[in-house]
Amino acid sequence: MNTEKSLDDVQTNDDDDSFSRRGFVKVAIGGMACVYAGAIGYPVYRYLASPVEEAIAEASVKEVDLPGADKLPKGSTLMFMFGPHPAMLIHFADDTWSSLTAVCTHLGCTLHYLPPAPRIVCGCHGGQYDPHSGENLAGPPPRPLKKYTVKIVPGKVMVSRA
Ligand code: FES
Repeated sequence: MNTEKSLDDVQTNDDDDSFSRRGFVKVAIGGMACVYAGAIGYPVYRYLASPVEEAIAEASVKEVDLPGADKLPKGSTLMFMFGPHPAMLIHFADDTWSSLTAVCTHLGCTLHYLPPAPRIVCGCHGGQYDPHSGENLAGPPPRPLKKYTVKIVPGKVMVSRA
């Protein structure tokens, strides 16, 4: 009789062990699923949200002051950041100025300009733009560059949205 009771106890303990093991495995699998969902979901969220966040950051910047840029020699270019995006200030040999976004409208490569070249050229796929107006002249870019307003004041250049 005493032996039977012991067997019942053993079976009950086995059931408890089995239940707790099953419960542990469920919790572990649930935890791993949450970790994997986060590992996959966060980059997807960042990818989808980044254009919106960049647009908000860009919209919040209306003007950029460039201290000392009024001394930029004729025939040279200054790269700077207009909000989250690179931009360029060009001082032409004829003493005119231009400021444009330096982001290619094709796939977003950063543009460079070396005066007195007649065109801004994209190194990625050969897109070309007019350095005065920002018009797209050749290659795959579908749109002109965004042009900024330039104001020269003593000690700095102020670049603002047109
Ligand atoms: S990214 Fe500039 S031409 Fe393609």
